[in-house]
Amino acid sequence: MNAEGRTRLDQMPEWQALAEHREEFGRTHLRRLFADDPERAERYTLQVGDLSIDYSKNLVTDETLRLLRQLAEAAGVARLRDAMFDGEKINVTEDRAVLHTALRTPESATVRVDGENVMPKVHQVLIRMGTFATKVREGHWVGHTGKRIKNVVNIGIGGSDLGPKMAYEALRTYARRDMVFRFVSNVDGSDLHESVRDLDPAETLFIVASKTFTTIETITNAKAARAWLLGAFDGDTSAVAKHFVAVSTNAEKVAEFGINTDNMFEFWDWVGGRYSYDSAIGLSLMVAIGPECFGDMLAGFHLMDEHFRTAPFESNAPLLLGMLGIWYGNFHDAQSHAVLPYSHYLSQFTAYLQQLDMESNGKSTTRGGQAVGWQTGPVVWGTPGTNGQHAYYQLLHQGTKMIPADLIGFAEPLAELGELRDQHDLLMANLFAQGQALAFGKTAEEVRAEGVPEAQVPHRTFPGNRPTTTILASSLTPSVLGQLVALYEHKVFVQGAVWDIDSFDQWGVELGKVLAKRLESALTEGAEVAGLDASTAALVGRYRSLRGR
Ligand code: F6P
Repeated sequence: MNAEGRTRLDQMPEWQALAEHREEFGRTHLRRLFADDPERAERYTLQVGDLSIDYSKNLVTDETLRLLRQLAEAAGVARLRDAMFDGEKINVTEDRAVLHTALRTPESATVRVDGENVMPKVHQVLIRMGTFATKVREGHWVGHTGKRIKNVVNIGIGGSDLGPKMAYEALRTYARRDMVFRFVSNVDGSDLHESVRDLDPAETLFIVASKTFTTIETITNAKAARAWLLGAFDGDTSAVAKHFVAVSTNAEKVAEFGINTDNMFEFWDWVGGRYSYDSAIGLSLMVAIGPECFGDMLAGFHLMDEHFRTAPFESNAPLLLGMLGIWYGNFHDAQSHAVLPYSHYLSQFTAYLQQLDMESNGKSTTRGGQAVGWQTGPVVWGTPGTNGQHAYYQLLHQGTKMIPADLIGFAEPLAELGELRDQHDLLMANLFAQGQALAFGKTAEEVRAEGVPEAQVPHRTFPGNRPTTTILASSLTPSVLGQLVALYEHKVFVQGAVWDIDSFDQWGVELGKVLAKRLESALTEGAEVAGLDASTAALVGRYRSLRGR
């Protein structure tokens, strides 16, 4: 039994039933599944909002889906989902509610945390963000010397960077093209250097985004940015107020840093970092695309939230995709999951999903504190098509590992592309071809029939039966982006619920932070670090000597 009185996952009869079904399923081929059911493509396609989700090229039958549904029911996914939407403290190790869904809920609703309706303050911050974004966009927020702000640099890391950066890239055709938006995250000083070297400090606004406002990378970069700015204004610290704003939950630390809290945009501890870009953490994005587009994006998130909250299993996309991941990860030994967007605007989408998924579900302790006895979160990876086709798709097609993949594409290229619009058919032909090749492969007979010499036949045969899900929308609008992100957020939620892990803490990042802090003084001052292992001690020594210390 777990903390909530749930039977251990691997002892549930529903789990055993899936294990037996897996045995029976054996090597059943997608070729056969499609041949046996001419309706399969239609029956296994969902329409949710603007997204059509074709999951017919997955290794499932109606029986598989029935058993997966039963496991989701037995694991209490719906109960935990409702508890999340109701503001219960489902982040058990941090004793926090998990309410990123409130960030995109209409103001008229009531969402309570500890008895307080949080909707008024969510919308107050959105209004303040809108006023600020409009001022910057229209040139009414000017810099220290009265010059218009043309450059916006977001300084943050993890959830305070990946979300706004990904969404800015995705929606850049909606952004002000006469402004520059940059995202600085790495504590490697070259990140900041390369981001500001061609900018005029008098026209540059820094948004320091950090939930805790204690993250060493962000604070270090923010201090360096402030020094860069003050260097241009003879150290006049009154310039800071016009060139620095903050996004945080920690007003005290923001003030301590020297940013006026009047210029701070708030969010709350019930918004996890990796679930935060639709909070004030998205301020840089809102300046780029404007409050209206930002609102459209929130509406897209909300559409998917409502779908997840209310749709039955058979038509509930996050539930279905989450359970398909369980099927592959726990019953087919799949170790990773590829997300392959056929849109260059989604170049940062997989990097964003890596934090969302791997920081959420990269756990091996149950919510009740026991070791799990089953696989949890997959390695998530991928890059935009068609680049990956000329790099690692070889392994997807003919390698020894099963790698389920999501193929994401859009019918319409974005309007700005003008004369390049025709190239879009070629891009999408590649997406559809990859799904087809992965699923159906090419048999030895088919290869032979092409007159290929016998010795080459095995090399040119494609086994197929490699599962993909194809997500297609008309075009990449702000709303569609919101729908897509919420789809993955809830998919990750479903999997964490089944695996009985806390998807909303991230204790695994702490040890490295503590050790780095201890080692820093060893590198700079040669300080003794007690109990250092021989390898690390030697590396520190070598580094110091290379630096001439
Ligand atoms: O180190 C992990 C983490 O805590 C992430 O969860 C978070 O998104 C990131 O660091 C940044 O944290 P903050 O917004 O507090 O600077």
